[in-house]
Amino acid sequence: MKIIVAGTGYVGLVQAAVCSEYGHQVYAYDIDEKKIAAYSSGEAEQIEHYVNEPGLSHLIKEMLGKYLFFTSELPPIVEGVDVIFLCLPTPPHPDGSSNLTFYDAAVEQFAQLLADRKDKRRVVLVNKSTVPIGTARHLESILKDYQVENVGVASNPEFLAEGTAISQARKPDRVVVGCDRDEDFKILRRVYSQFVNHVRIKYIETTPETAEAIKYVANTMLLTYISFWNGVGARLGEKIPNVKIEDLRRGVTADDRISTWGSYVSNGAGGSCFGKDIRSLIYQLRRVDVNTKMLESSYEVNEFQKEYLIERAVHEAGFRFNNKTVALLGLAFKKQTNDMRDASSIRVVESLLGKGVSCIKAYDPLANEEAQKVFNANQNILFEKIKYFDSAQEAIQGSDALFISTDWEEFRGLSGTIERTVQPPYLIIDGRRMIPDYEDLTAAGYTYMAVGSPVLKPGKK
Ligand SMILES: NC(=O)c1ccc[n+]([C@@H]2O[C@H](COP(=O)([O-])OP(=O)(O)OC[C@H]3O[C@@H](n4cnc5c(N)ncnc54)[C@H](O)[C@@H]3O)[C@@H](O)[C@H]2O)c1
Repeated sequence: MKIIVAGTGYVGLVQAAVCSEYGHQVYAYDIDEKKIAAYSSGEAEQIEHYVNEPGLSHLIKEMLGKYLFFTSELPPIVEGVDVIFLCLPTPPHPDGSSNLTFYDAAVEQFAQLLADRKDKRRVVLVNKSTVPIGTARHLESILKDYQVENVGVASNPEFLAEGTAISQARKPDRVVVGCDRDEDFKILRRVYSQFVNHVRIKYIETTPETAEAIKYVANTMLLTYISFWNGVGARLGEKIPNVKIEDLRRGVTADDRISTWGSYVSNGAGGSCFGKDIRSLIYQLRRVDVNTKMLESSYEVNEFQKEYLIERAVHEAGFRFNNKTVALLGLAFKKQTNDMRDASSIRVVESLLGKGVSCIKAYDPLANEEAQKVFNANQNILFEKIKYFDSAQEAIQGSDALFISTDWEEFRGLSGTIERTVQPPYLIIDGRRMIPDYEDLTAAGYTYMAVGSPVLKPGKK
C-alpha cells in the first residue's frame, strides 16, 4: 500500500514507522520543516528531540529510504496513494470543545490535491486523531464540496500510551476501524493485515461514529478510574487511621474484574489526552442534553489532585514554602517520555511559585529541555526561579524540601541519596509513592508525606 501519514507528532511518527515496518511505502508529511529535517537525518538525538519513545529512533533509522520517507511537500506524494492517515492536533477551545482548525486546513488541502489527481484509484482518508463524534461525516462533506472521486472516509482512533508506543503499535489490544463501505474496510484490512486474524488482538469493524465514540469512552473511563483511586482510595489512606493504601489497593484489585492499572494513587494524571478528551466528551454530551455530572467530577478530582499535596504540606505538615528551596524530581507527565503536555509538574511549579519559594531545583532524566521550553513560554520573571540539574542528587543539594512528581524508576532508590545529601529538618513530598523505605527516613529525622497516607513526622512509622 502507498500510505501518507499527515502530522508526525507522537501518533503520526509511531504510525508511520510501524506501518513501514510491515512493508508499506509510507510518506510521513508535516508542515513543520524542522521536524522533517530532524527525522530525515535518521539521527537518534535529532529524532528524540521531538518524540522520545523507546525503540522509535532505531526503527526509523532502519526503515528510512527503504519503506519510510519524510517530506514537507504534499503535492508530489499524493498521486497513487491508497490511504491517508490524519494524525493532526485537536487541541481544546476554552469551553472544552475540540479546535478543528488544523484538521480542517489539512483536509481542505488534501481534498484539492485528491480532486486534481490523475490516478482515480480508491483512496481512504482515515482519522487517527481524537475527533468529536461525527467528524468523519464532516470530512466526507468537505471531500464532496471539492468533488473528490472514489474516496472513502474512516475512523481508526489511536490508543497508544506514551512511553510504550512502539511495543503497543506492534501488538495493540485492539484495532478499531469505522467505515461505511465494504471496499474501505477491505483497504484498511490490507493496511493492518498482521492484526486482522490475530488470536489475541481484537480487530473491530464498526460505524465511523461508534469508532469515534470508543476512543472518548475509553479515555474517559481510564481517567475516571484514576480519579476514583485518587479521590476515594487516597483519601481513605490519608484520613482514616490504620487504612493502609497499598494493602487496600492489593485487596481490591485481587478481584479479576478490577484493574491494577490506574489503582496506584498519584498527584494526578497528565498528558495531552485525558483532560482534553473528557472535556470534549462533556461538551458533546451537553449538546444532546445528557447529564455530565459524573464526568465533571472525574475531571475535577484529577485537577484538584495536582495541587493538593502542596496544600497538605502547608496544613498537615506545617511547612512554610516562603523563601524555601524545593527540589522537584520528575517533570514529564509520566516516566519514559519527555512529553510535558499537561504534566502535573506544571501545576506543582505554579503552586510553589505562588507560595513564594526562592528556588525550584528541577531534575528529569529526559524532560529538562522540554520543561524549559514550557516554562520559558510564560515570559514571566517568576519562572526564572526554576534551575535545571542533571541528577537527583544535584537537585536535592541545598534544598529544604523535595517533591516527586513523576514515577521514574530511579526515584525508588532516593532514600540513600537524601540521607547523604541533606540533613533534617527536611520534608519529602512523594506524589507517586516512590520511596519504599520511607520508615528509615522518618527514623533518621526526615518528615515524609505521600499521597495516600498520613504525614509521617520524624520518628513516626
Ligand atoms: N499523544 C498521544 O499519546 C495520543 C494518543 C492517542 C491519540 N492522540 C490524539 O492524536 C492526535 C495527535 O496527537 P499527537 O500527540 O501526535 O499531536 P502532536 O501535536 O504531537 O503532533 C501533531 C503534528 O501535526 C502537525 N501538523 C499540524 N498541522 C498540520 C497540517 N496541516 N499538515 C500536516 N501536519 C500538520 C504538527 O506540526 C505536529 O507535528 C490528537 O488528536 C491526540 O488527541 C494522541
